[in-house]
Amino acid sequence: MRFFSIVLVTVVLQAVFMSYTIAEEPPKLTPEESTIASKQYQQYCSLCHGSERQGHVNDHAPSLKSQSLLESGFRELGLTIAYGRAGTPMAGYFEEIGGPLNREEVWRLVVWLEEQENFDPVELAHNTIDGDLSTGQTLYDQECSTCHGDKGEGINGPALGNSAMLSMTSDDFIKHAIENGRQGTDMPAFSAKLSADDINDLTAFIRSRATGWEVQKPVFREPPAASEYVLNPDGDSPQIELQDGLYVSSFALNDALQNKRKLVLLDTRGMSSWQMANIEGSVPLPYYYEDTESLAKDLPRDGTWIVIYCNCPRAAAEHVNNKLVDLGFKNTAVLWEGFSGWASLGFPISLGKTTITNMDAIEKL
Ligand code: HEC
Ligand code: HEC
Repeated sequence: MRFFSIVLVTVVLQAVFMSYTIAEEPPKLTPEESTIASKQYQQYCSLCHGSERQGHVNDHAPSLKSQSLLESGFRELGLTIAYGRAGTPMAGYFEEIGGPLNREEVWRLVVWLEEQENFDPVELAHNTIDGDLSTGQTLYDQECSTCHGDKGEGINGPALGNSAMLSMTSDDFIKHAIENGRQGTDMPAFSAKLSADDINDLTAFIRSRATGWEVQKPVFREPPAASEYVLNPDGDSPQIELQDGLYVSSFALNDALQNKRKLVLLDTRGMSSWQMANIEGSVPLPYYYEDTESLAKDLPRDGTWIVIYCNCPRAAAEHVNNKLVDLGFKNTAVLWEGFSGWASLGFPISLGKTTITNMDAIEKL
């Protein structure tokens, strides 16, 4: 039974990481698994979120028992516990970014948190919500800034301008929080006070801050030209030691980039993710393009290292990697931590037109 549950958790977890589907029926924990999760919660989380999960014990850590969070947040809970929110007191706990929790433990905690309360999961759509940004900003200044900060830096409410939070949540997750509030906390439900349009405007405004609180419109960039694919064309080849014959760590990649090694970086996430934030110098090659062959025609075939990343942390990257290997490419590697892991470790990412490190981004908020 225990083994069965672990398999289920792993399957759900993989589904969540790989395709962002929400489990129709969350797996049940055995009493033994519950005991372990409860102990781990007390050990790692209660300091800030409280021994009863009530929140706001330290650092204004949110409640982890409010119905509106639990019913909408299976995926968001897992990603937040795994990767944290860089620039806030919420650290990432996944072993791949320093631990101490492995994948099974992260998802066991999520299921445990959900099992402590009674609610029916709400299946949220994952659509883009359109709205008027300037109305959204006015409403934000009037209704939200006292708790979330003039620039979304967070006061007693979470930092809504935090790029980790924005990259791990969907528009519908944000909208659900605004409509329903967070029961048992200071976060009011706005569905009675504001119109549906107002709430869409606010959601779109908050989402638009993913490219920086000061930016009015996202600044779209041209992907690099084929002649710019190879970074540091005159540099030496990086000394990459693959783990499991396929993976390279963020530390090794950062080292290669800092030392101006010759390589190609491929970003296999969706194009909008690349536009929002990427690793400087990366070439967008989203996994959903069928025609990898023609897209790959400008990639070097002379053994230049090609490092591939996505956000899953690896499913889309491995998919593109397999295609490139089938096409005869040599020296391909997949970034082990993925983009979220890279960003959570504080390695530089590029937003809009400027290259900044995470810490700089946070100081700007
Ligand atoms: C040092 C204090 C601290 C510890 C310890 C901590 N957290 Fe947090 N956590 C926070 C803060 C602060 C936030 C809100 C960050 C922000 O501004 O977005 C947060 C956010 C979260 C969220 C997002 C909630 C939401 O409303 O979207 C989840 C889930 C979470 N933490 C789970 C955990 C779990 C599980 C643990 C233990 C493994 C843990 N945290 C340990 C401080 C902490
Ligand atoms: C009186 C203070 C207060 C006001 C006003 C307020 N919030 Fe909040 N908000 C909070 C708190 C506190 C939380 C965290 C709830 C918890 O502890 O679980 C929160 C949570 C949220 C979340 C979920 C964030 C996450 O990490 O899961 C969103 C989104 C949000 N608020 C948006 C808004 C918007 C938009 C407005 C204005 C229309 C607003 N809030 C007004 C206090 C407030």
